[in-house]
Amino acid sequence: MIIKESSEQASELVAHWIGKAIEQNPSAVLGLATGKTPLRVYEKLVQRHEAGELNFKKVKSFNLDEYVGIGPEHPNSYAHYMRSHLFAKTNFKEENTFIPDGLTQDIVKECRSYEKKIAKEGPIDLQLLGIGRDGHIGFNEPGSSLRSRTRLKTLTKETREDNAVHFSESSRIPIHVMTMGLGTIMEAKQIILMAFGKDKAQAVSLCVEGPVSAFVPASILQFHNNVKIVIDKEASSLLKNREYYEWVYAQKPDWQMP
Ligand code: GLP
Repeated sequence: MIIKESSEQASELVAHWIGKAIEQNPSAVLGLATGKTPLRVYEKLVQRHEAGELNFKKVKSFNLDEYVGIGPEHPNSYAHYMRSHLFAKTNFKEENTFIPDGLTQDIVKECRSYEKKIAKEGPIDLQLLGIGRDGHIGFNEPGSSLRSRTRLKTLTKETREDNAVHFSESSRIPIHVMTMGLGTIMEAKQIILMAFGKDKAQAVSLCVEGPVSAFVPASILQFHNNVKIVIDKEASSLLKNREYYEWVYAQKPDWQMP
């Protein structure tokens, strides 16, 4: 648990870790997330690439999820998001970036083939996650099987409302999505979950301090052996053990520091 003063500081740290993973392994496989939360991290990675410090030539990426019914050219598709915030601004090779095809005519086949691609190129070295207010990761809404694989999901009313800001007409937000499952996510070697702002405080506290439950999909991370939860002060406000987490971080031996 790493609680930073601001989302800016938290993003700096996460970008540093991603950079380090690529430096250590230029062919690293990243699991990437969308939404507001990782935006600053992507900006920082782009800056480091422009400064000649980061090379994405051999890096591979798998995105968590995609809306069903909209294609990669649609401004609200996650394929478009990734291109405009990261891929087109760096030297990622298009053939190394993977995301489910929102326009597929066969969803079951598309999800199976996505799993196969992850199995072939993976395992994912570093999986980046945000969290929904209802505790979802990827688009694994409450009730998702804790062992689920990439599949079709139906968004909750709350998630559709939260994502409405990105769509010009709220009625146009897709109802269905394809998402990596919780079982898929759990196979990543390392996971970094980020959460910023008071709206995420409850989801963070249930994820970290609540019981593991399909009702709070992010709580499955309690079973992973290499997870960092990087949050800002506001998102930490409901944590019962907040002082302890801050104390642990302050006492970290040098060799454990970023
Ligand atoms: C979206 C995405 C998630 C994301 C979450 C939070 O619905 N599918 O991957 O982490 O909800 O989004 P934001 O970062 O915009 O709060």
